[in-house]
Amino acid sequence: MSENRNQLQQFDLILDQDRIARRIAEMGKQITSDYSDEPVLVVGVLKGSFVFLADLIRQIDLPLEVDFIASTPGEDTDPDEYELEFASGELPPIKGRHVLIVEGVVDTGRTVNLLLGKIRQLEPASAHIVTLLDKPGSHRGRVEVKYKGFTVGNEFVIGFGLDNAQKYRNLPFVGRMADR
Ligand code: IMP
Ligand code: MG
Repeated sequence: MSENRNQLQQFDLILDQDRIARRIAEMGKQITSDYSDEPVLVVGVLKGSFVFLADLIRQIDLPLEVDFIASTPGEDTDPDEYELEFASGELPPIKGRHVLIVEGVVDTGRTVNLLLGKIRQLEPASAHIVTLLDKPGSHRGRVEVKYKGFTVGNEFVIGFGLDNAQKYRNLPFVGRMADR
């Protein structure tokens, strides 16, 4: 039996592969139309965004570049101390560019709010959040999510790039740990 089928029994399905693919295609169309031929810098927030990002960019028909934010502020990080760290090792040019920050899941919104604030200090032409999943019930204060795939409840979800203790990112669907 494959590892994947083994793993499947441990989960309750929330969003299947086809549904996710259809929604990502819609999001890509929306973004393509909103930016009408303007170049876009797509910045993935590692690691949870990488599966979603890979699918999303192939549904966007615009000139675009991709980078990744390599380290996000932890619970204990003082927002004033946090510095943007890109996977490329250097800060990509952001001034005057359209930036889309891509997340896998927005929970309290602390991460995306902080990243958006830091990016906006660099004077982009625009900067917005794109997330596959959003948990509006968990937001603390105002959270600016421009493009969202799906709303989920206040529960821990895994798969499609999202982990539980670094596992399950490879599951091709979104699910929750089953109680059985
Ligand atoms: P926030 O800063 O509270 O919005 O948390 C966002 C980060 O917490 C995400 O980038 C994820 O790494 C992690 N996270 C929050 N909820 C989940 C979940 O349900 N599954 C997996 N990771 C999650
Ligand atoms: Mg995680």
